[in-house]
Amino acid sequence: MVQLMYKEIGVINLKRLIKKKKVKIMILAFFISFSILLFCVGIAFIHSKGTYIYLNSDTRIEINSEVYLNDFVEKIDNGKIFSSNDLIDTSNLGKMELKIEYLDYFKRKQSYSFEIEIVDTEKPIITFNGDIKAMVGDDINLLDGVSVWDNSNEDINVEVAGEYDINTAGTYSLKYIAVDSSGNVCEEKFNLVVEKEKTIYNGNGIEMIDGTYATSKGYTLIIKNGIAYVDGVLIVNKTYSLPSSYQPQNPYIPVNGGYCNDCIDKDAMEAFKLMKTDAIALGLNIYISSGYRSWNNQNSIYNYYVSIDGQTKANTYSARPGHSEHQTGLAFDLNTIDDSFTNTEEGKWIYNNCYKYGFILRYPAGKENITGYMHESWHLRYVGTDLANTLYNGGDWITLEEYYGLDSKYIN
Ligand code: DAL
Ligand code: ZN
Repeated sequence: MVQLMYKEIGVINLKRLIKKKKVKIMILAFFISFSILLFCVGIAFIHSKGTYIYLNSDTRIEINSEVYLNDFVEKIDNGKIFSSNDLIDTSNLGKMELKIEYLDYFKRKQSYSFEIEIVDTEKPIITFNGDIKAMVGDDINLLDGVSVWDNSNEDINVEVAGEYDINTAGTYSLKYIAVDSSGNVCEEKFNLVVEKEKTIYNGNGIEMIDGTYATSKGYTLIIKNGIAYVDGVLIVNKTYSLPSSYQPQNPYIPVNGGYCNDCIDKDAMEAFKLMKTDAIALGLNIYISSGYRSWNNQNSIYNYYVSIDGQTKANTYSARPGHSEHQTGLAFDLNTIDDSFTNTEEGKWIYNNCYKYGFILRYPAGKENITGYMHESWHLRYVGTDLANTLYNGGDWITLEEYYGLDSKYIN
């Protein structure tokens, strides 16, 4: 009996044991299933929170343009750009790799690399003075005053295309051509006008060929190689012009380019320096604001004024190319090139003192019909102290035209 009871108890314990194990397995199974579910949900969640960077489609960048790293990112989903917005060095042609750093959805630092290409698609820019005039047989350099610039900043040569014969008068249609290293081509057309021996006319439209003439005041006018002199004084006005190739004969520094304040005549420059020193001692400041100007440079200036004021008005204050004293190197403009200079202390002192240094006021007030130009208090011409003293005339300036008996008129 006792044993039976024991057995009974043993059976009961065994059943319980089996029941307990089942529960454990069920719990374990539940736990595993739950973990798998959690894992799947986690993966799906992580996937839905993936970081996506959308780059701009244009990764071809023009050379030397201003581009920043973050300019390449159009948008970022589930993340944030971390890189500093650096300026990209776009000064060299070719491919380069860039790296964007970003924080993903979980704030982890990540990076993404991509390639860009620096390209040059813009053509060079040629700057020049427009049409060129020359005389038959002139020694001309068609590249004088021509420059080229390209956004790549590389050195580019300009070539002249087309045929011409400097020994035959005519108008030649030519081109400047510049090609950059990426093959972008710039072409600019211009005309080379080759003229026969320069024809000079006096005020009445009579041709003045090389020779000796008497002026209306009895002076001897000599035309040599188409250039007019009276008493050894070079005359340039509306009647008497210079060949396009003429340059200052004795420049203070060698002529190099279309305009140059220090390329005026040596004697004129020494005289100016003396005058400036004396002016400084009086507390005055004078400086050359426009000195030598080539034919081509004057051509650009004159054409610019014609374009804004029309030819008739421009002719009252700007000389046609070949007719400007600035091409002689014996003339220059001081300080501010307008009427405001007249009543400055400098302007008043110049009016009454420049003759002491050999300069004349070339276009005095009230003499517009004689010189052909409006009053220019700032334009001085070097003629030497003797003639300057005579023309100063005690403060009532006489013009070269009046003194020598010359015209200053265009015939057309
Ligand atoms: N302004 C003077 C006349 C010139 O153009 O030379
Ligand atoms: Zn001037």
